[in-house]
Amino acid sequence: MVFDFGHLRRFPDIEAENLFAHDATDDLILQQAYAALETSAPGSVTVLGDRYGALTLASATVHDLSGLRVSQDGISGEYALAFNADRSGHADVYTSMALGPELFTEAEVVLWQLPRSLDELAEVAALISTYASPTVQVFAGGRIKHMTLAMNTVLAEYFSSVVPGRAWRKSRPLHLSGPRKEATALSFPKKEFHAEQGLWICAHGATFGGTKIDVGTRFLLDYVPQMRPDASLAIDLGCGNGTISAALAKARPELKVIGTDQSAAAVASTTATALANALADQIEVVRDDALAGFASGSAELIVLNPPFHVGATVHAGIAHKLFAATARVLAPGGELWCVYNRHLDYKGALAKAVGTTRVVARNSKFTLTVSTKAASGTAEGSSS
Ligand SMILES: C[S@@+](CC[C@H](N)C(=O)[O-])C[C@H]1O[C@@H](n2cnc3c(N)ncnc32)[C@H](O)[C@@H]1O
Repeated sequence: MVFDFGHLRRFPDIEAENLFAHDATDDLILQQAYAALETSAPGSVTVLGDRYGALTLASATVHDLSGLRVSQDGISGEYALAFNADRSGHADVYTSMALGPELFTEAEVVLWQLPRSLDELAEVAALISTYASPTVQVFAGGRIKHMTLAMNTVLAEYFSSVVPGRAWRKSRPLHLSGPRKEATALSFPKKEFHAEQGLWICAHGATFGGTKIDVGTRFLLDYVPQMRPDASLAIDLGCGNGTISAALAKARPELKVIGTDQSAAAVASTTATALANALADQIEVVRDDALAGFASGSAELIVLNPPFHVGATVHAGIAHKLFAATARVLAPGGELWCVYNRHLDYKGALAKAVGTTRVVARNSKFTLTVSTKAASGTAEGSSS
């Protein structure tokens, strides 16, 4: 059986001419793993970091595999895999799972689209080496421009054999075997105390910014007391390591905060940050794509430090998608506070999507705005 990658969609993720649902890394991983997949028993294969289902669905189709265990950090990748699996009649060949021991127990073959973050690499490698079969074979790969020698050093701590393969179309495969059962797993989430904010920040490997406080977020935190002072509920959209959720909850004990992110690591990190600061009663954490599960007109205050990278591709689409989501979920008179890189100039887009938009503060790098949802429920399209 052959698998036609051309049928894969990115949906519901952003689709555009320069964005693709599979890359040469998928081909390389699958080619290198071909013989191992041919002889794999059901339930012995784990797939990591699959973008839109190429690895999972090609394995299932070409090698007639079932019982695949799949973990994807982003919820939109999970939805895209489900969508593509449904269309190709493979909805029952895999189970989506969180990153943890169960994903790897007794796994014989692991297919892995390598992450760019060394922390994520270490967190995953430690789990594989600890829980997978001693004879596990890991077929990994990545885009050459995102691969560094430091990655090999990290991987060598967890595998006795780390063998790079021949590069093809700007991707390179890596074959890992001989899990070092004696390797000391780094402990995740990592935890750091920030004296200036009086906050513990926790982060799993795949979390934006790790345990650091993002510079844009740091700029925004000074304005927490001004954000819709009468609000009883706030949403931290794209909560990452939970800095904004924790700062809001700590500064305003009457406020209930919902931190939400499409990244599983971010959700786990914000949960850990809330616990570490004894704020778990005030902070709820939800994994969701762009507020999809939130009722329209339900929020008085949303705080956002939007991403401007989609994977490795610079693309402003994601910020605009989050502005539109915010406009739907804000109640009339509700406020969106947004911090962004000064050169991005989102003010017009915010006014158009949400309502009257005012620049609250600006420094050499960042702009902080507040947009107020028009009482009529339609954006006013003005800015001041
Ligand atoms: C620039 S980071 C900000 C993280 C955190 N709020 C902070 O201040 O450090 C943007 C966050 O948005 C999240 N994100 C990206 N796309 C999203 C989506 N469609 N729905 C929800 N969150 C998303 C990312 O996972 C990331 O954690």
